[in-house]
Amino acid sequence: MRAPLLRMSGLHKRFGTRVLFDGAELALEAGHGYVLSGANGCGKTTLLRMIAGLEASLHGTLEFRAQPATTARYPEAWRREIVYVHQQPYLFHTTTEKNLEYGLARRGVPPVERQARVREALEWAGLADRSDVPPHKLSGGEAQRAALARAKLLNPALLLLDEPTANLDGNARKQVLDLVTALCIDDHTVLIASHDPEIMRLAILDRLTLAERRIVVE
Ligand SMILES: Nc1ncnc2c1ncn2[C@@H]1O[C@H](COP(=O)(O)OP(=O)(O)OP(=O)(O)O)[C@@H](O)[C@H]1O
Ligand SMILES: [Mg+2]
Repeated sequence: MRAPLLRMSGLHKRFGTRVLFDGAELALEAGHGYVLSGANGCGKTTLLRMIAGLEASLHGTLEFRAQPATTARYPEAWRREIVYVHQQPYLFHTTTEKNLEYGLARRGVPPVERQARVREALEWAGLADRSDVPPHKLSGGEAQRAALARAKLLNPALLLLDEPTANLDGNARKQVLDLVTALCIDDHTVLIASHDPEIMRLAILDRLTLAERRIVVE
């Protein structure tokens, strides 16, 4: 059997005396989409941050593409392949277009190709007419769509989405839901922390629940 794309084992995490994970195990298969649910404060964001190398644990190992590491010594090379989209979209104070272009420039993609890929991603996210707009002038839904487009452009091996539809309603939520659905159908490996019933209902997602310091596969 093929090794999972990502495996975490023996994971321990605490903040002060509050133990969040105690020997938690998780395996994500390539090409699958997962929704991670669980009560407020149970550790969904913390788990995503650990997978993204933004939060260390005292014990436990991570394996990505069968390469082992610890969350305390997170390999820099993984950061290009594992992309985390914050719940509050984190956009730089420049235009939407430049926000999308930045990661490609850092990866050495030539300018002409960069511009073509950015244009395509802006269209995918329905933001073609917002390319010159700075992030503080985008609506919440537009900012979330820009963050999703920027992540998709980087073609990550593993995409981590933290509550992509939180704080959105009506059409803004529906537009983000459509993009999230497209990303999941598109053969990406995606882990979405969410308790949005629409996301939890997506048949294309495998279900994970954080319960009692464990990760339960349903
Ligand atoms: N840097 C930190 N320092 C101390 N405690 C923290 C820190 N980050 C998170 N916590 C605590 O860890 C617990 C889990 O937080 P986390 O944000 O991972 O939960 P969550 O499942 O994402 O919650 P929500 O559904 O509200 O987004 C909470 O009790 C939180 O207060
Ligand atoms: Mg959270």
